[in-house]
Formats: sequence, C-alpha cells, structure tokens
Amino acid sequence: MINVAIDAVCLDAYPLLSESFENYSFFVFDSLNNVDRENYPVVMLFYEGKLSLSMMDGKRPIYVDVDFSAGQSVYRNENKSVKNELLAKAVGIKSNEASGLKILDATAGFGRDSLLLASFGCQVVMLERSPLMAALLLDGLQRAKNERTLRDTVKRMSLLHTDALGILQVASFPSVMKEGFVFSPDVIYLDPMFPGTNKSAQVKKDMRILRCALGEEMDGEELICRAMASGVKRVVVKRPRKGAVLGGGKPSFQVIGKSARFDVYFP
Ligand SMILES: C[S@@+](CC[C@H](N)C(=O)[O-])C[C@H]1O[C@@H](n2cnc3c(N)ncnc32)[C@H](O)[C@@H]1O
Repeated sequence: MINVAIDAVCLDAYPLLSESFENYSFFVFDSLNNVDRENYPVVMLFYEGKLSLSMMDGKRPIYVDVDFSAGQSVYRNENKSVKNELLAKAVGIKSNEASGLKILDATAGFGRDSLLLASFGCQVVMLERSPLMAALLLDGLQRAKNERTLRDTVKRMSLLHTDALGILQVASFPSVMKEGFVFSPDVIYLDPMFPGTNKSAQVKKDMRILRCALGEEMDGEELICRAMASGVKRVVVKRPRKGAVLGGGKPSFQVIGKSARFDVYFP
C-alpha cells in the first residue's frame, strides 16, 4: 500500500483520483503544513499552476508534472526527424510526412513517447492504470490544448484511465472499446518501468517520483504476452539498452540507442 497525501483541491478538479483506491492510502489535506512527510512521502498538489507529484530530496521538495511545452518534449517536437527518433523507426514511420499510423500506447506514463508519435501524425490512444499519472496526463493535455504550437498534435492523443491488461484481453481486440469508443491499432507500444540507468538528472527525478508513487510494477511479461496474442500486426517494447528481452521471445529486429532499445515484433 502506498501512502499519498492529496490536496483536496486536486480531488475536486480530478474526480478520477477517487477511483482505484485499493493500491493507495490517501490523506486528503487542505494545508501542506498538516502533511506528515515521513509517512506520506508522495504528495499531489498544484504547483506553479500544474498538477504535480512531489517528494522530498533531502530537505528540498522536488516536483514532476506533465508539461508538453517544456524541456525535452519541446525539443523533440520541434526538431523531430525519423532519422533521429528511434521510436519513430521502431513503430514503422517511414518519413517526416504525417504518418497516420494508429498506436496504442499501453503504458502512457508522462505521455512523452505518445506526444512524439502524435507529432509525427500518428493517432495515439494512451492507456494509464495509475489514477495519479492519469490525472497528471489529463492536466497536461488540457494545458497543451491551449498552446498554439501543440493544439493540433494533442488532438491526435486520447487517454483512457484503465488497466491495459483488461483492454488487451477484450475478445474482439484489436479494437479498443470503451464507452462507445472504437480504435483498431496498427501498433501496440509498451514501456514498462525498468531500473533507471539514464544519467540525465531530469529523467532520474521523474523516475524516482514515479517509482515512489507507483511501487514495483510486475506486469511487463503479462503485457507483452497479451499484446502478442491480440492480433495486432506490430508490437514495440522499450527496454534498457542492455536489458533482457521482455517475455523471452526473439524480437524480429531491434533499434538500439545510447541508453534504451526498442524491440520490434511482428506476431
Ligand atoms: C515507464 S512509464 C512510461 C513512460 C512513457 N513511455 C513516457 O514516455 O512518459 C510506465 C507507465 O506505465 C503504466 N502502466 C504499467 N502497467 C500498466 C498497465 N497494465 N496498464 C496501464 N498502464 C500501466 C505505469 O502506471 C506508468 O505510468
């Protein structure tokens, strides 16, 4: 059970936070001074106008949010080229022209990979199981809709707060169906959490908070099994550069970068 302190304002703004309580013990506060940081190491609050997760780094609080108009996301959005983006190659994007591929990102996280794929013209459905991450994503998407440079890209991204394991066992897959919504992906993309080896301070911070907020995730093997059995034509899995292959099967090919690798399967 993970202890999370949540500002009451966040619960009002994102009712989905009240779902899936079984993995969390929540303390709802109206003043941060009332939070016992020892027992509640992860705090959700609005910080600088953005829904954020925070934890202490020594005596200093650190924060993460979903901001598609900041940092690495902006650079990747503005300088994108299939040549430089290994993920684009792995999903089968052939040129910098709008791609139109339909991608199911079954482990959305901070939505960065989804944003990149949408910026290449892909239609992306993001699945996110954690209510904390789903709320962060919704907040980020909402703000991005008001940004001139991002508006069109985020129109191609939609989020379902759900467990991908459930979606991937829907009998009639490869259509993702929920509340009348039908989507038949060309590619299923999986990026389950792996031990952090990336040297970038920003990535380290994000992943530390993510790990603290989500705990250990053990469903990577199950996700790839279900994705492979789903009838989809292509499955792409992100792994640490030297990490073991997920699920034990042999990928059809690999796209290898400095710290990460994409294993591509044609089931
Ligand atoms: C490493 S992060 C993904 C990062 C993401 N690729 C990005 O670009 O920001 C993994 C995410 O997958 C989510 N996740 C793990 N298993 C899941 C499942 N079965 N269904 C939906 N989401 C899942 C976790 O909650 C976590 O937010």
